[in-house]
Amino acid sequence: MSQHLKQSWPYPELVAHRGGGTLAPENTLAGFREGIRYGYRAAECDVKLSADNVCFLLHDDTVDRTSNGQGEAKLKTMAELSMLDAGGWKGAAFAGEALPTLANVAAYCRGQDMLLNIEIKPCPGRFEETGRLVAQEAARLWAGAAVPPLLSSFEIEALRAAQAAEPVLPRAFLCEEIPANWCEILRELDCVALHCDHHALTEALAGDIKQAGYQLLCYTVNDTADAERLLAWGVDSLCTDRLDLLPARG
Ligand code: G3P
Ligand code: MG
Repeated sequence: MSQHLKQSWPYPELVAHRGGGTLAPENTLAGFREGIRYGYRAAECDVKLSADNVCFLLHDDTVDRTSNGQGEAKLKTMAELSMLDAGGWKGAAFAGEALPTLANVAAYCRGQDMLLNIEIKPCPGRFEETGRLVAQEAARLWAGAAVPPLLSSFEIEALRAAQAAEPVLPRAFLCEEIPANWCEILRELDCVALHCDHHALTEALAGDIKQAGYQLLCYTVNDTADAERLLAWGVDSLCTDRLDLLPARG
């Protein structure tokens, strides 16, 4: 499958960051609903493990910033995480929004024909098991789907575990700065794509990455001029917070 994906990239040019960008509380179903409302066909979200190894959506290591709770996410069971309000911090209209499990998101996305980029975002010290368990859960939840979820991570150990557990699920190496040995990393992990901070990309590097046969996604692109420039350089997809500014396309 990864060989095939190197040739054809089923993901659209615009991907909603953390569910619905900044229009809704990040990594909640309210965000995904916002994506659908704006005509987006794909979203990215951050997935980690609860203390009892349930795959769920959260960006930070702690629940403090994006919920009414406090403390390290890896110490809380999914039952405890489910009690938190993950929407009220963003506004009264979102109060009561839950921290979704990956299973909740899979059901929503598959029902809406929305494609998903699962960023494997392990809590500290949980790289291997997060890569392995997220990949296994994704393979189970998307069994039989026409387009599989795309797994990405900043953590090579997590990607390696995902590769060992579910080799057919496509993978992308995620980076803030593009390392000099990007090609070896992509080859070793049998990735289909490189995902990078758009500030790290140059036209020459974009050309090299495309020339090497890989797809390219940039985050987080919130400006129309940046979006046009990056697409002109051959970038395949852009992850954005501004669904309202960048009309769904591709
Ligand atoms: O996957 C792209 C992007 O989400 C990576 O950065 O910190 O927003 O998860 P972050
Ligand atoms: Mg992310």
